[in-house]
Formats: sequence, structure tokens, C-alpha cells
Amino acid sequence: MANYETILTEKRAEGVAVLTINRPDKLNALNSTVHVEGVAAIDKWRKDEAVRVLIITGAGEKSFIAGADIGEFAGQTPISQRSNFYERTLFNSLDTFPKPVIAMINGFCLGGGCELALACDIRTASEKARFGQPEINLGIIPGGGGTQRLTRLIGEGKAMEMILTGDMIDAQTAFGLGLVNHVFAPGELEAKTLELASKIAEKSPIALQMAKEAVKLASRSNLDEGLRREIDLFAVCFSTEDKEEGVAAFLEKRKPVFKGR
Ligand code: COA
Repeated sequence: MANYETILTEKRAEGVAVLTINRPDKLNALNSTVHVEGVAAIDKWRKDEAVRVLIITGAGEKSFIAGADIGEFAGQTPISQRSNFYERTLFNSLDTFPKPVIAMINGFCLGGGCELALACDIRTASEKARFGQPEINLGIIPGGGGTQRLTRLIGEGKAMEMILTGDMIDAQTAFGLGLVNHVFAPGELEAKTLELASKIAEKSPIALQMAKEAVKLASRSNLDEGLRREIDLFAVCFSTEDKEEGVAAFLEKRKPVFKGR
């Protein structure tokens, strides 16, 4: 796989790619190189049939991602910072990635790190993980989707408190809020997350894509539009060999083998 300066990419299990943000000495803070390299890696995986599920994590024991690289804020003008975030960031690249993405949160998950996790589809966390949107302590607000995605995920009152106080919460509290799907012992996080990813990677890639798109519509459209588009996406699945295989396998009492066709 390609050589990058700030990320590691690998295929860990059948159908599962792992993207590791690799700046452990800076707690994996997101600088502009991470965005450029991360977007490039994700672009390669968009059309790579061997990749069915993506896991994102942070290097080292301590941190998933401790936010945007604060050093890069110095010297930014409103216009340059605005265009940085409008252009292709990891946040919007993940948002349009058609395959399931799991954030495997191994430590600090702060600011842009929490926003990146929110742009993923499923979040697993170590018991040691800490979550927060501390931007308010820098005199700014979240700009990578935090005010919108966090609010949709955990509700306005809880999101408001996290964003207005900047306080950190622990993994069990995040689980209670629905911010993470699972909390695992630190030594089990990787194996359990890979198990979950592998289970998803066995499904029809086309059905996964349609399912992801349909579920995301729930927070992005009104109910009537969402229900209508769900039927269209459901109907698309009826054009696939995978649907024939899934139905035949059920009737023949065997495990289906989905090819993504
Ligand atoms: N941007 C740039 N560098 C960061 C960073 C960030 N968001 N978060 C951590 N780092 C760097 C530190 O500057 C330090 O670098 P140095 O060794 O060259 O001085 C290194 O990572 C280790 O961090 P340190 O603060 O020494 O670790 P800690 O265990 O004492 O504290 C945190 C951990 C996460 C509480 C603390 O680093 C922190 O508050 N980070 C900023 C979080 C934040 O506000 N994120 C939102 C940004 S919008």
C-alpha cells in the first residue's frame, strides 16, 4: 500500500481496511496533511472491491484523535479557515464514503476527533476513551460537523452541554448517551471491533450501501421523503445477483456468498 507521512493503511481481515491516524506524539491531532492523505486513502478504497468495511483508529495507547491541530489555527484568516473546511476534509470524505465505517476509539476523542467519529457509521470505544468538544475553551466552536451530528445523535440538551462546557465525558457516559455503540476493555477493543467489521463485511456490499444511504436519510429528510426513498433503495436491491443469492441461500438452508453484483 502507499507510503504516507501521517497515516497508516492496511487490510487487516477479509474485506476490512484499517486507517490509522499516525501522529502519536501529537495525540493524532488532525493537521492538513492528515486530511489530504486520509482523503486520498479513502478515495482509493471507494472503488476497491476488496474493501467492504473501513475501520478508523489512532496510533498509540493514549489517543484516538485529540482534535484539529491547534498549531495550524495560528495565522488562519476567516476566509482561509472557511475554505479549508469546505474543501475536501476527512469529515466530508467520510460522509460520502459509500461503505460502512467504524470508528475504533482507543483514547482521547476530542474536538475534530469526536467530529470525525461522528462522521463514521458505528463507534466502538475502549473503557479508557474520553470524549469532548473542547473548542469553546479556545474561544471557537466545532466546525467539522459537531454542532449538527452530535445534536442529531444524542439530542439537543446533552450536545449543548458538551459544546458549551467543553467538558470531557468517559466512555460509559458516552455509551449511556448513545454516542458510542459498544465499550470494550482496552485489550479487547481491536479484536471485538474486527469481529464486528468482519460480520458486516460478509453482507452484500450493494445492500450495505443502500442500507447506509437509507439510514442516513432519517436525519436528513422529512419522514415522507425518507420513506419514499427507502422504497427506491430497497427496490434497487432487487436488481442484484446478491439478492438472488441471499434468497436462494435461505431457501436452500446454506450460508450466502455475496459478490457485490
Ligand atoms: N493540536 C496540536 N497538538 C496537540 C493537540 C492538538 N489538538 N492535542 C495534543 N497535542 C500535542 C501537545 O501539544 C503535546 O505536544 P508537545 O509534546 O510537542 O508539547 C502532545 O500532543 C501531548 O499532549 P499533552 O497535552 O502533553 O498531553 P496530556 O496528556 O497532558 O493532555 C489532552 C492531553 C488531550 C488533555 C491535551 O493534549 C489537550 O487538551 N489537547 C487539546 C484538545 C483540544 O482542545 N482539541 C480541540 C481542538 S479544536
